[in-house]
Amino acid sequence: MVEHYFSKKQGSELKIREIVATIRGIKVKLKLGSGTFSSKRVDSGSRLLAEAMQIGKNDSVLDLGCGTGIVGIVASHLTGNEVVLADVNERACMLAKENSGGLANITVLCGDMYEPVSGKNFDVIALNPPYTAGRSVCFKMIEEAKGHLNKGGSLQLVARHKKGGETLSRRMYGVFGNMQVIVKKSGYRVYMSVNN
Ligand SMILES: C[S@@+](CC[C@H](N)C(=O)[O-])C[C@H]1O[C@@H](n2cnc3c(N)ncnc32)[C@H](O)[C@@H]1O
Repeated sequence: MVEHYFSKKQGSELKIREIVATIRGIKVKLKLGSGTFSSKRVDSGSRLLAEAMQIGKNDSVLDLGCGTGIVGIVASHLTGNEVVLADVNERACMLAKENSGGLANITVLCGDMYEPVSGKNFDVIALNPPYTAGRSVCFKMIEEAKGHLNKGGSLQLVARHKKGGETLSRRMYGVFGNMQVIVKKSGYRVYMSVNN
């Protein structure tokens, strides 16, 4: 079976690369790993999302498709509330757990889509969607976000505008009835929809 960064299990040998990323003045030591998304450096889309996401001091946050954890780890420094990191890739979850060790407000959960947070709602869902996994997976992540957001909560999603982002932002508008761009940089945009 072909393995992707979004496969549940990774059979390849795990090769770790240790890096330090500084975002919003927060220095994060990260272990990246083969068989996970962006195994050599912090992805430009995830970096932009982490730089621009709007998180209040008491907001609960879900970093959906957390990979090795950068977005959720930055979020955990912006809020005193709980931050849940979730991903389908078990290796990514294992590394996200290591990377977030010591941050008391982070929980890492492994599973498909919103299954690990069934019955739970958040103030912010931060998402760098797995475009390679297919548009229908990304659409489902957007559609099901509404049922996991508190009233007034937001879905904040990063994508390359001309490589699928425009379509995803239209879907966000279709689901939430509103959508705004909170930042644009190097072809990427962070789109936000509010659950009114
Ligand atoms: C574009 S990556 C972003 C990763 C992370 N934010 C980062 O910068 O390292 C998308 C992530 O979604 C995860 N993913 C793909 N399909 C998923 C699913 N069905 N349920 C949960 N996570 C999924 C992938 O494993 C991947 O880690």
